[in-house]
Amino acid sequence: MRVLVTGGCGFIGHHLVKRWTAARPADTLLVLDLLTYAGDASRLPAHAGLVVGDVADPSAVRAAFDRLGGVDMLIHLAAESHVDRSIIDPSRFVRTNVLGTQVLLDVARECGVERFLHISTDEVYGSIGLGAATEAAPFRPGSPYAASKAAGDLLVQAAHNTWQLPTVVARPANTFGTGQFPEKLLPVLARAAVGRASLPLYGDGLHQRDWLAVEDLCDALSLLADRAQAGSVWNIPGGGARTNRSVAEAICRVAGVSTTQIASVCDRPGHDRRYAMDGSALRALGFEAKRSLDDALPALLAEAQGSEST
Ligand SMILES: NC(=O)c1ccc[n+]([C@@H]2O[C@H](COP(=O)([O-])OP(=O)(O)OC[C@H]3O[C@@H](n4cnc5c(N)ncnc54)[C@H](O)[C@@H]3O)[C@@H](O)[C@H]2O)c1
Repeated sequence: MRVLVTGGCGFIGHHLVKRWTAARPADTLLVLDLLTYAGDASRLPAHAGLVVGDVADPSAVRAAFDRLGGVDMLIHLAAESHVDRSIIDPSRFVRTNVLGTQVLLDVARECGVERFLHISTDEVYGSIGLGAATEAAPFRPGSPYAASKAAGDLLVQAAHNTWQLPTVVARPANTFGTGQFPEKLLPVLARAAVGRASLPLYGDGLHQRDWLAVEDLCDALSLLADRAQAGSVWNIPGGGARTNRSVAEAICRVAGVSTTQIASVCDRPGHDRRYAMDGSALRALGFEAKRSLDDALPALLAEAQGSEST
């Protein structure tokens, strides 16, 4: 199979590429990535090809299709992904996450693909007061990032409805693992803990996030690539919602620092309070998240320690 992965040099993308190439050595895999601040080509396995280009540029996308001699499986991860940056510069998010997604859909339609696996997010549902959002829940995105991802998600669904493009949409929860860009919550807290600095928490720290291991996410995406029906949409929840404060406290415990090091900082404007998704559809397909955030903390702290000493 010829597989094109956009954003394969990012956090989730490089894990997916490594696991995919190890599990499916007969496939030819190519990454299309602009190598923004969040992309690092050095972590791709040697046998994965790379086209450096912008998903919002049709000629770059066509060049990637041509290089593979056609695409059977397109896995679309490329995005501007940091909420705080979307508050400073929303237009960049619209270009990459909305226009970039449409350009990929256009070229996929023009050239033909067997599957277009689009990676959306739980943030499209916005803050969930009680219970958990099913795949049919309305979109109430709370940040420019989430709004741009919601628009991309809807364009993918529209491409299936209008042209029967064989799309599948995955909506993962907050993902943890090594190799995440240091601006995101877990590396920020881990670096602060190993550096014996204060651990910054937005507002009262009682915002709740559902944490999903990047390895579990890759397994779920692999399952969806093989088994999901064209036009389907899937939540990929993690181990259940917990507060950011409880995550910071767990990091303190594992790092051996006092929880008095946790310091409240000015909250993010419009900060969503709680994300929670219903995962029964994916469970029925045979997927259950296996890894816990607590078990991963030693590796995240070791990585933070490594970057501290370099
Ligand atoms: N990390 C999470 O917790 C999480 C949760 C749910 C969904 N997602 C989604 O998963 C996907 C990957 O997230 P991530 O955390 O790995 O992001 P990331 O920011 O770590 O990586 C994004 C990658 O996309 C590339 N990129 C950015 N703009 C591009 C463009 N215009 N053209 C081509 N490449 C471009 C970057 O160079 C980088 O390699 C995103 O679509 C994100 O919205 C992430």
